[in-house]
Amino acid sequence: MAARLEVRAGTAYPVEVGFGLDVGELAAAVLEPGECALLTDSTVGPLYAEKVRRSLRGVGWRLLETVEVPAGEGSKSLAVYGDVLRRLARAGLMRDGVLFALGGGVVGDLGGFVAASYMRGIPLVMLPTTLLAMVDSSVGGKAGLDLPEGKNLVGAFLQPRIVIAELGFLESLSGRELSRGLAEVVKMGLLAGGEFFGALERVGAALRREAAALEELVLRSVSFKAAVVAEDERERGRRAILNYGHTVGHGLEAASGYALAHGEAVAVGMVAEALLARRVLGSELVGLHERLLREARLPVRAPGLDAHRVLGAMGRDKKRRGGAHRFVLLEGVGRPVWGVEVGEEEARRAVEAVLG
Ligand SMILES: NC(=O)c1ccc[n+]([C@@H]2O[C@H](COP(=O)([O-])OP(=O)(O)OC[C@H]3O[C@@H](n4cnc5c(N)ncnc54)[C@H](O)[C@@H]3O)[C@@H](O)[C@H]2O)c1
Ligand SMILES: [Zn+2]
Repeated sequence: MAARLEVRAGTAYPVEVGFGLDVGELAAAVLEPGECALLTDSTVGPLYAEKVRRSLRGVGWRLLETVEVPAGEGSKSLAVYGDVLRRLARAGLMRDGVLFALGGGVVGDLGGFVAASYMRGIPLVMLPTTLLAMVDSSVGGKAGLDLPEGKNLVGAFLQPRIVIAELGFLESLSGRELSRGLAEVVKMGLLAGGEFFGALERVGAALRREAAALEELVLRSVSFKAAVVAEDERERGRRAILNYGHTVGHGLEAASGYALAHGEAVAVGMVAEALLARRVLGSELVGLHERLLREARLPVRAPGLDAHRVLGAMGRDKKRRGGAHRFVLLEGVGRPVWGVEVGEEEARRAVEAVLG
């Protein structure tokens, strides 16, 4: 079982999705096998790095170095970034050397920024190992790091040369991490409408790791994200719809001191934004959101957080412009509108409603 999609952003590149993929061979179809390095983290490395190394060597890739960074968001830092660059330099990786990023969104974002900047840019191959990375972060070319002052404040756009989503990697992923990835899947299904929205009924089966359900939801998510990105690579317009649930979500994440995980914050954020859409656009989607998110074992409320802090953090969000908050709202399933300005009072009510 395997399928290939194409992302038409920058130079078009393939996304391979399936079980039992041969990483070395698939990469060799788009890049001449030569010198390369493998970036991974301390959880994924021990599980899968050796398998990937074997596959790479099998078709003539010469692996100069494996760099394993500590698992977790903390590795999206200037300090770790600097260490990785120096390891590559000491290993003698040259301008034509390829970086393979094996891990979740953290390794992907860090690896993307390394590949964008090392020797002014080297080719990148994404090997996502979390559901979130497969459906979201590995596709679209956003790479970046956090600063102590805020998340994702440093970054670059670099499209990978190929994304290889080996669904077998998800076997070792915890149920919680799977749910967090499903938050982005539910988000995209609601934005897309049509058959993708219908396929959200397989969320429960995906959580039980049924192969066909996982494959369908990953393929639909990637193809939806790819289409949006191809239309608007630099987020000057429609790409903003991918931030659905994220305006409130980012506020919740920050106000919790990042105790609330991104996927969970986005889930609750979508409920808040569905409440907003009910007031501002008259759409009745709150119950639908709650049902889908519960099926994905995601929260629909974030009790205990302070509304004032959430709104404060939303105000500091880098995506905010001008005075009012701007939201992506759903007029209906498959009918997002973006850049909807909502006053402070209206936003506060929606936030308070999901904190209770
Ligand atoms: N670039 C983008 O467009 C984009 C989009 C969304 C999110 N992101 C970024 O992605 C990051 C979050 O990604 P994530 O949720 O994948 O987090 P992550 O990379 O931290 O992975 C979550 C945890 O799962 C572990 N793990 C990964 N794969 C595993 C596997 N197969 N088996 C067992 N354990 C495994 C990791 O070691 C980690 O501890 C954030 O930094 C976020 O900003 C980027
Ligand atoms: Zn997200």
